[in-house]
Amino acid sequence: MEAGDLPAVVSIEKASFRDPWTEGMFRGELHQTMSWHIVALDGGARVSGFLIARAYPDEWHLLDLAVAPETRRQGAAGAMLDRFLDAAEEVSADVILEVRPGNHQAMALYAGRGFETVGIRARYYRDTLEDALVMRYSPWTPRPGRGFDGPLLAIETSCDDSSAAVLTARGEVLSNVVHTQDAIHERYGGVVPEVASRAHVERLTAVVREALRQAHCDVEGLAAVAATVGPGLIGALLVGVQTGKAIAWSRRLPFVPVNHVHGHLAAAWLADPSAPFPMVTLVASGGHTALIRVDDKRNFALLGQTLDDAAGEAFDKGARLLGLGYPGGRELDELAETGDSAAYDFPIGLQRSARPDFSFSGVKTALYYLLREMSEKDRKARAADVAASYRAAIVSALMAKTLRAAHEARARTIAVVGGVAANSLLRRRLVVEGRAAGFHVVVPPLAYCTDNAAMIGTAALSAPVIAYPDYLSVDASASLPLGRWSAHSSV
Ligand code: KG4
Ligand code: ZN
Repeated sequence: MEAGDLPAVVSIEKASFRDPWTEGMFRGELHQTMSWHIVALDGGARVSGFLIARAYPDEWHLLDLAVAPETRRQGAAGAMLDRFLDAAEEVSADVILEVRPGNHQAMALYAGRGFETVGIRARYYRDTLEDALVMRYSPWTPRPGRGFDGPLLAIETSCDDSSAAVLTARGEVLSNVVHTQDAIHERYGGVVPEVASRAHVERLTAVVREALRQAHCDVEGLAAVAATVGPGLIGALLVGVQTGKAIAWSRRLPFVPVNHVHGHLAAAWLADPSAPFPMVTLVASGGHTALIRVDDKRNFALLGQTLDDAAGEAFDKGARLLGLGYPGGRELDELAETGDSAAYDFPIGLQRSARPDFSFSGVKTALYYLLREMSEKDRKARAADVAASYRAAIVSALMAKTLRAAHEARARTIAVVGGVAANSLLRRRLVVEGRAAGFHVVVPPLAYCTDNAAMIGTAALSAPVIAYPDYLSVDASASLPLGRWSAHSSV
């Protein structure tokens, strides 16, 4: 801010506050030794906003922040605030400010950057004698998508795949290595948590090494580390979280805790960076079946989910009843390709309900009874028809609820992620029917649909970054809810 900016600054101030600063007060700030003052310029290089603060040695005081009414909601306030917080962070200064309790827009802006309300100043405002809320920001508070500028190592161990990936800070995937434990769990017919944890311990170091090697990178060259902290199998998650934190700690790097479901959602914009928001994303895997409205890369809302089995589980249990392989979804899908999907009628739960929820326990039971009634010979002869009809019932439920939710949420994009996105009928129907209904459709390549660290790294780029040493208390959480980034242990 320079003296020539003052007329514009004064007029923005007047348009913004009931008790505005005078031109003399602004002029005084320009001559203050500890003053920090910047302006925002619009497309025509006119002053469209400003920020004034005092940079005291270990605490910075934000005094005034305003944007011209006609240029509000275009990100100028946030951009000035980020510039200011970056400068404060560089000298490890806390930032404090006062805000009117009724000014929800300003409070949301500050809260979004990690400011916390820490007290009040009684009768602070001269015009109304209202109290002011005091908000404080500490440099260790995580801010989304910031805090590093260089390669990121991402780790995923939430279930039965050990995976590591290296991404650039701009999101290009340099490597994505996945070691799946299917062969280990096959003989038990399901994932055994303790066995999974142990296998992660044995393999993860090699997987991380291989990801670094393929990316032509070493630990010295990393700028940050991310790991899935939940939801998932607690023992499995712990291996990835501790490994990630240890690598970050060894070089005092920032650490990014990632929510596994955020990771699945991120596969959509990893596969198709041009897909427009809002999206409705179907997350369908062995562990989850949920419909999520994704407003942008870090804001989402759960619309509905399965009330019992996950879709992948329904496929796997069906495959087991039909005597196919493990986990079975893919084998059942392949067999179904050769059968007649109209041969049998399977009931599917909640089909007529308007709720975007799913239920797959009924269809599985129906399959059990159908097979029980069939002769051994028929079970063999009609296996493909049974598989095709069973698959069609599950896919119809997924399709109907997804399209309906997308219409209701006024989404522009429909995406499907998770292992079940590998299903060939679901992929075909989503592309054809989704496009016919006017949606942009994203069906990521299989490598990004099943559990993998590239999607975790992609999510990390829009998640809060935690600087050393604050993340040492970050813990794994088996039931981390959507929208939560991390769980801190109580110690
Ligand atoms: O996302 P994912 O790798 O991890 C877990 O949640 O475990 O998903 C695996 C699930 C399994 O249930 C698997 O059978 C299912 O995705 N799946 C399929 C297909 N390929 C994998 N389900 C139906 N059709 C497929 N082609
Ligand atoms: Zn998953």
